[in-house]
Amino acid sequence: MVRNLAMLVGAAFVVVLGWALFWTVQGQITDPAAPSIETSEWHKHPKELELESNGVFGKFDNRQLQRGFQVFKEVCSACHSLHHVSFRDLQKIGYSEAQVKAIANQWVIEQPSINPDTGEPATRKNVPSDHFPSPFANEIAARAANNNANPPDLSLMTKARHDGPAYVYSLLTGYEPQSAEMLKEFKDVKTPEGLHANPYFATMNIAMPPPLTSEGQVTYLDGTKPTVDQMAKDVSAFLVWTAEPNLTARHSYGWPVIIFLLIFVFLAWGAYQNVWRNVKH
Ligand code: HEC
Repeated sequence: MVRNLAMLVGAAFVVVLGWALFWTVQGQITDPAAPSIETSEWHKHPKELELESNGVFGKFDNRQLQRGFQVFKEVCSACHSLHHVSFRDLQKIGYSEAQVKAIANQWVIEQPSINPDTGEPATRKNVPSDHFPSPFANEIAARAANNNANPPDLSLMTKARHDGPAYVYSLLTGYEPQSAEMLKEFKDVKTPEGLHANPYFATMNIAMPPPLTSEGQVTYLDGTKPTVDQMAKDVSAFLVWTAEPNLTARHSYGWPVIIFLLIFVFLAWGAYQNVWRNVKH
């Protein structure tokens, strides 16, 4: 009885699967998916990016993070905020309390506030507990200044995109003119007025103008040569940190956990031997 019932349930599953397969195939035949630029050879996958923080035991390189912060400060912060990061978090990448105070105090974009006497909207200087502000008062202002695109908050960007750090690095270094061959195949991806061709961006055209354009755009204090490639790497490394400041700590739990598990395996094996000691196989 139970056996018959089980067979019936099994047969029902087979029928349902067969039905679904039939309609999927049927759909593909009658309405094949239009070729899309995103799945075509023209849309590029992120380049390789070697960072100290890669891998299971990777650690942050504070010097690189500080360089990346400098790129964010001098270039990206003109359009992007870091709402999940506060100035005092910078102490974790090696800045002293006094340095953090000075950085906050001199930050060009101030915090929105109100004038205590008139109640009018005003701004005030940043303090270490403030988060990195957006340069735009609101989304409408942000879009108005950026060809109707809103520069996203970058705090979690390296987690929000597939292959995040490599994607950011590739996007920043990947602007290139569109090839005639591609335009022959995909006419409608031709860069519209005000956008910029970039094969790493999902739609192939991005509203962000190339932010890193020339060597020496920032001057590194540690003597590293500020090539476009280096600046792009450094700011990507920095954005890995903003998205997961505790990465080094999390990675450092790895070894103790493995050692603990090994000891545990050994104990379990001992207990097993002990329990079955008198039993003949
Ligand atoms: C002039 C303003 C401007 C500057 C400067 C700028 N960006 Fe952008 N950024 C934008 C805009 C606008 C968008 C939204 C683009 C879109 O949706 O087409 C954007 C989007 C992005 C994205 C998201 C892309 C995606 O997949 O959605 C990343 C990552 C990014 N910017 C990183 C940076 C970094 C890093 C810097 C500094 C090196 C920087 N940006 C400097 C305006 C700017």
